[in-house]
Amino acid sequence: MSYVPKPLSSTRSGPLSGQLTVPGDKSISHRALLFGALSLGTTRITGLLESEDVLNTAKVVSALGAPATKTKDVWQVQGRGLGGFQQPDVPLDFGNSGTGARLAMGVVAGQAVSVEMIGDESLSRRPMSRVLNPLKQMGLQVENKDRETLPLKLRGTVDLVPIEYELPVPSAQVKSAVLIAGLQATGTTTVIETEPTRDHTERMLRFFGAEITTAAGGDGKTRISVTGGQQMQGREVAVPADPSSAAFLAAAAVLVPGSDVTIEGVLINDTRIGFYKTLQEMGADLTYANKREEGGEQIADIRVRHSALKGVRVPPERAPSMIDEYPILAVVAAFAEGETVMEGLAELKVKESDRLAATAAGLEVNGVNARVEGDALIVVGSDRVSGGGVVATHLDHRIAMAFLVMGFASEKPVKVDDTSMIATSFPEFIGLLEKLGARFDAVAE
Ligand code: S3P
Repeated sequence: MSYVPKPLSSTRSGPLSGQLTVPGDKSISHRALLFGALSLGTTRITGLLESEDVLNTAKVVSALGAPATKTKDVWQVQGRGLGGFQQPDVPLDFGNSGTGARLAMGVVAGQAVSVEMIGDESLSRRPMSRVLNPLKQMGLQVENKDRETLPLKLRGTVDLVPIEYELPVPSAQVKSAVLIAGLQATGTTTVIETEPTRDHTERMLRFFGAEITTAAGGDGKTRISVTGGQQMQGREVAVPADPSSAAFLAAAAVLVPGSDVTIEGVLINDTRIGFYKTLQEMGADLTYANKREEGGEQIADIRVRHSALKGVRVPPERAPSMIDEYPILAVVAAFAEGETVMEGLAELKVKESDRLAATAAGLEVNGVNARVEGDALIVVGSDRVSGGGVVATHLDHRIAMAFLVMGFASEKPVKVDDTSMIATSFPEFIGLLEKLGARFDAVAE
C-alpha cells in the first residue's frame, strides 16, 4: 500500500479554555512494556500511551514471547524474565520509533535470539551505531555487519560481558540500551554521563526491584551502575501524562489571546521540563498546582494563560531536558519580543527528521526571521506572525504539531503537508485542541 499523506491547516482561533488530560508518557510507556517483558510474572500498566510507536513495542515484546494485551483499561505483559525470550518468527517492526528500536536492541542483546529489526523510511535513516557500538563490545552480533541503520539483523547472547561506557552523545536511549544490556550481563556495567538525560530507565529498574547505583563525581560526571543477573518481578505501573505532548497545548494557550488551559497530572520529572522552565523565563503565566507522586514520578497540574513573551537565551546544558520541545519552542519564540537563541542543538539533526533544518524552514516559509548558526537556532520574534506557509513535515510528528499550533495565532492559516505521523506519539492531538476551541481545516488534495 503506498503512503498517502494527510495535509491539514490550522486557523486563527478564539480563546482556548478548559481543563483536560493528555495521554501517557511515551518514554515511560515503552519502558513499562520492555521491563514488564524482562521481568518474571505479570506487569499491569494503566495509562499506557496507545500511539503507533508504543503499540509497535507491544507487538515486539509479544513476538519475543512476552504477550502484551489489553483488558478493559489495563495492559498486561506476561514477562519472560532474563534469558527467557523466544525466537520471533517475524521481523520486529518499530515503525517510526527510535526509542522502541534502540531500547529493544539492549533487550535483545542479552537473549539467545536472532532478530531482524525494521522501521519506516524516517527510522531507517537514523543512526544506530551509537547503540550498536557499546552493545557490540558487550557481545551483540550484527549479522549484516557493515550496516549502521535499519534494517538490521542482530544476534543476542546470554553471555554478555559488562562494560564501562562513557556516553559520546547525551542520549537517554543509548544510556538505557546499555543499562538494559548490563542487567543481562555477567558482572557490573557502568554508564558515565556527562550531561544528565531523562532518567526513567534508572527509576524503572529500581521500581521493578533491580539494584542500580548512581554516583555523581566531582568531575561533573555521573556513573550509573547495574549488576547483571538480577531477576525483576512484574509490577503495577501507572504512566503519567506526557509533558512532551502537553507542551503543544501549553504553547497554544500561551500564544492565543484570552486563553486559560489546565493540563492535569503531567509528569514534571526534572529531566523533562526544560520547555516549561523556558516558557516561564520568557514571561509565560505558567503555574504548577497539586504536585504529587505517582509510580515513582512527580506529577502536577499545569495551568497556562495567554501571556506576552520576550525572547531569551536557552543554554545548551538545558537541551537534554527539552530535546523534543525545540520545534514548539521555536514556534513560541516567533511570537516573543526580541531574539530567542537556542544553543547546543546538534542532536536535533538526528531525530525523526533533521529538526533543526525542518524547524528553520517552517519558520521561514511562514514569514518568521530565523537562522541556524552552527548548532544554534536563532528566532527573531514579533507580535505579528504572517503564517500562510506550507510546512514540509518530513515524516516528523513534532514538526507537524508545532506548526499547526502556529496557525492558531498567526494572521493567515498555516498548512502542514502531512499529519499522519501525529499518531505515532499523540493521536488525540487534534481532538483535544478542538475541545479547547482551536480550529483546523481539512485540506483537499
Ligand atoms: C527518549 C530519549 C530522547 C528523546 C526521545 C525519547 C527516551 O532521545 O528524543 O523522544 O525515551 O529515552 P535521545 O536519547 O536519542 O536524545
